[in-house]
Amino acid sequence: MAHVVIVGSGIAGLFAACRLADAGHHVTVATKKRTKDSSTNWAQGGIAAILDKTNEQGMEAHIQDTLRSGDGKCDERVVRSIIAEAGARILDLIQLGVEFEKEQDGTFAMAQEGGHSTKRIFHAKDATGKEIERALSVYATKHDRIQLRPNTLAIDLIQREHGDPSQGVAGVWCLDQQTQEVITLEADAVILATGGVGCLWKQTTNPSVATGDGLAMAYRTGACVDNLAFIQFHPTSLSAPGQRPFLISEALRGVGAVLLDDEGLASWQEACADAIDSHQEPPAPDGFSFTLNHSPDGSMATRDIVARAIDQQLKTSGKHHVYLVTSHLTDVPLTTKFPTISQRLKKDGLTLGVDPIPVVPAAHYMVGGVRVDDIGRAYQQLNDEPMPHLFAIGEVACTGMHGANRLASNSLLEAVVYANRVAQHLIDNPPEPYEGNHPAWRADGLDRLREHAPIIHDRASLVSTMTQEVGIVRSNQRLRRAQRRLELLNQEIDLIWKASLPSRAIVELRNLALIGHLVVNNALEQTENAGLHYNVDLIKDDMPE
Ligand code: SIN
Repeated sequence: MAHVVIVGSGIAGLFAACRLADAGHHVTVATKKRTKDSSTNWAQGGIAAILDKTNEQGMEAHIQDTLRSGDGKCDERVVRSIIAEAGARILDLIQLGVEFEKEQDGTFAMAQEGGHSTKRIFHAKDATGKEIERALSVYATKHDRIQLRPNTLAIDLIQREHGDPSQGVAGVWCLDQQTQEVITLEADAVILATGGVGCLWKQTTNPSVATGDGLAMAYRTGACVDNLAFIQFHPTSLSAPGQRPFLISEALRGVGAVLLDDEGLASWQEACADAIDSHQEPPAPDGFSFTLNHSPDGSMATRDIVARAIDQQLKTSGKHHVYLVTSHLTDVPLTTKFPTISQRLKKDGLTLGVDPIPVVPAAHYMVGGVRVDDIGRAYQQLNDEPMPHLFAIGEVACTGMHGANRLASNSLLEAVVYANRVAQHLIDNPPEPYEGNHPAWRADGLDRLREHAPIIHDRASLVSTMTQEVGIVRSNQRLRRAQRRLELLNQEIDLIWKASLPSRAIVELRNLALIGHLVVNNALEQTENAGLHYNVDLIKDDMPE
């Protein structure tokens, strides 16, 4: 039986671990904080899927919505194959203990989010990720062939032949954050399931673990990375400066919440007051939304469009946020459907269903990642061949499904489908055990870092550069400025890295700075605007503003 190391403990990592362990393989899940500290745990929306395989029309509509959202850049073959598998994976999750919400008649309650033409999202109120993480962690914890290893920060992949990516990998060096020692996790195969890189931006919906570790490790080992220019900003995170970021799920817009700017809010409130005075029905807020200037779908347009619309509105008005209004949704049991959001708003003295919610866009999802084939194998930079024994699944991977802009609630779907495929591949083709030596970590002559101040300063400067220069709307000048700064920053970080023993701060900074640089380079390589990449210097005359 093989020994597989999985780095990351979100839906992708835990699902793959459960499948492999059920088939008799031994799995170590290395995760840098607690098992539940993953982006999955923070996901509110859900999983888009059609359960009934005979519902061809429903599946085709999901495919078309995904392709439309991806703005012509999806790999249609991949999209079709993932959506075809969706129902089976939902059943797997249910079997593993996930409880999706049901209607009173026992059928699954379906939600809708931006870019979806119909309700097709399996969810658990507004905390779907938490429910998935709960069920999978319970299953994995009980499994005697799964070792969950929290506080284990992956540093770098170990190549079977040092300097030769074609021979693949044989494990991972990790920092045991309890002992501060570097340990070697030996593996016949390594699966990266490390999530994204939202921490590169000041405002993000991601947890603090989202620092691009897996992506950076894979790149340094010689794996291909694709589509990093496409960073998805979620249109609606709570605007609460100085506080932990908080997502306001798109599912709220799915039940009718509408985005208004100050002017639209004032006009709508005035129109409502007039209507009440003349004993008429108050108007819906939809017609007052600035988002209609950008898409006939208004607040329910795809994320790239809505986030850009808000960004433009904020830049034009000089305000700090726009509003999501819900007070017209008197027929919807908002606090029952969205208990997490309702409770969080209360902390700021806001009542869901009453007060306008101040929102801003925030970095949310990395569409690109480690390029993988249909079974999740990473490719080599050198020759475009699969890299032996290295797999990537979930947000860290780029399968081709999301194109230039991910459709809401397609990410947990893609993650579970590819986790299943990698596991099945390893079950059908157990990797031959690695009999060679595992080289020790290069610890000779290294000192503990005496001063952390430069690292903290460098991270702040990196985040500030990415936020200012590599946001929702880009320009060549700003991207080049970011490129120069990041080049210098990477050189400085490399000097510290080569001279010191690793700490979480330096490991994360090294990864963030590398990925920041790759994002900028890829953004400068784009020759047209599509989906989430929008460079004012690429605007064609016939392109809507
Ligand atoms: C949300 O609930 O708005 C996020 C869902 C997603 O990113 O897919």
